Amino acid sequence: MHSFEVLAGDFVKRFNRAHFPSSLPSLYDPAEYFLSIGGKRVRPVMCLMGNELFGDIGNEAWHVAEAIELFHNFTLIHDDIMDNAPLRRGKPTVHTKYNMPTALLSGDVMLISAYDSLNALSEKHLHTVVALFNKTAREVCEGQQLDMNFEKLVTVPMEDYIHMITLKTSVLLAGSLQMGAILNDASEEDQKHLYEFGKNLGIAFQVQDDYLDAFGDPGKFGKQPGGDILANKKTFLLIQALATANTSQKQALEQLLNNNDPKKVEKVLQLFRDTRVDEWAKSLKNRFFDLSLEHLDRITVDNNRKEPLLSLAQFLIQREY
Ligand code: IPE
Ligand code: IPE
Ligand code: MG
Ligand code: MG
Ligand code: MG
Repeated sequence: MHSFEVLAGDFVKRFNRAHFPSSLPSLYDPAEYFLSIGGKRVRPVMCLMGNELFGDIGNEAWHVAEAIELFHNFTLIHDDIMDNAPLRRGKPTVHTKYNMPTALLSGDVMLISAYDSLNALSEKHLHTVVALFNKTAREVCEGQQLDMNFEKLVTVPMEDYIHMITLKTSVLLAGSLQMGAILNDASEEDQKHLYEFGKNLGIAFQVQDDYLDAFGDPGKFGKQPGGDILANKKTFLLIQALATANTSQKQALEQLLNNNDPKKVEKVLQLFRDTRVDEWAKSLKNRFFDLSLEHLDRITVDNNRKEPLLSLAQFLIQREY
């Protein structure tokens, strides 16, 4: 069994190469730029770990891992446009460094490259993997649309937020694990528990992302501090703050949502602290982390094979970047 560090290192060795032709730099340079600025490579490693849980890592798993990372990076380029985000991984986003139409197109071409990688699959698994890949991708689009719909509302029920982050984020973690498992012919039941492990872990992962967006160290996190606050995102922080605030705190929050106060981020963060929602993050994360472990437990392989997934899960919910 291999750790996250080892698998991420091996993946990066394969992945760090030119992915696009040199024929049209105005389109392909931005795409190469984005792939070269790093990232944790969590999803491809999850595909490899899902694969290794049921046998040796096969060649097909490397191709699917690559497809998943290309897809993920495509979603980030487009997400940064939707979220009006200037920074990612400590570097300018593609639409900021180049321009909006180029960011759209370089994202599109990256998605197409993802399908090229999937095309390396043998007949045996091609149909099943592509079906799961497409279902996942469609759900990510739904989650992203809900995320933007919610920007226009004052607040949303906590369960709608959980549903939205399940779609925009956690199905890709879950799907990555399951695709790896499919390639080593895991049983349907094991696949289901692995998927549910990834889904619940993915929720905790996005909760941590939302926490870091507000309270992270910008030097480590690499994104614009308070980006979610500026975009009126309905994160658990805002939902819980509105739910627990007293009348004057609630009024202040609602007013801040409606204007462009130059001190908006600072003031909202203070209200988050006053209502103690920053502390509440831990219990929300742990709720989904515990659920994820219940499913990991029910997978019918030796516990020592699950070790890398368990440490990865612990890292993901405590991460600072
Ligand atoms: C960012 O994902 C998008 C979310 C779903 C929060 P990551 O935090 O995995 O991004 P990189 O690839 O490591 O930059
Ligand atoms: C990202 O959610 C989900 C997808 C990219 C599909 P966020 O908008 O919170 O991700 P970051 O914070 O920009 O990485
Ligand atoms: Mg974003
Ligand atoms: Mg977003
Ligand atoms: Mg975020």
